Amino acid sequence: MSESTSTSGNPFSAAPDGDQSNKAKTFSPNVQELRQRARKDVEEGAVTKGYPAEKEAIIKMLDSALATELVCVLRYRKHYYMAKGIDSEPVAQEFLEHANEELAHADKLAVRIAQLGGEPDLNPKTLLERSHSEYIEADNLKDMINENLVAERIAIDSYRAMIDFIGGSDPTTRRILEEILEVEEEHADELADLISK
Ligand SMILES: [Fe+2]
Ligand SMILES: [Fe+2]
Repeated sequence: MSESTSTSGNPFSAAPDGDQSNKAKTFSPNVQELRQRARKDVEEGAVTKGYPAEKEAIIKMLDSALATELVCVLRYRKHYYMAKGIDSEPVAQEFLEHANEELAHADKLAVRIAQLGGEPDLNPKTLLERSHSEYIEADNLKDMINENLVAERIAIDSYRAMIDFIGGSDPTTRRILEEILEVEEEHADELADLISK
């Protein structure tokens, strides 16, 4: 016969009547309220009542980052196809690799925007206006590398500002932006190396 193990390990259940050994301090949140809160506004998905950040401002900010990434995908890809000259092959490969990584960043941002209840804006008509970086084609390898380095430096500064803006209010979005920033810094470093060669 087991007598005293039925309530151990479950912080939500009260000690049964007559069980004097379990009257000590217990973790006992208002489960009823938690359940009601979770059930209410269930269409908000991952955004619970506990989400403290300015949701609309964060979605708008992520949207400008998404536009920036997509413009970078297009510029890098254009440069990949247009890179010519004796030393162009490794540089073109670098452009292609960066283009694919920028696309992965765009996907991460779009997923987070949707998670927060927003709608990722992929309208090509307004892409450039919403982007922080520019779409400049350049007509030789050196200018292409330079344009991409400028765009990376813009991205680095804008991701830093976004991370600053978020502070501690939305750790998940902050982590996504920090991961992207790390890759943008690597991109800038690689392009700076190519220029110095
Ligand atoms: Fe990126
Ligand atoms: Fe980049």
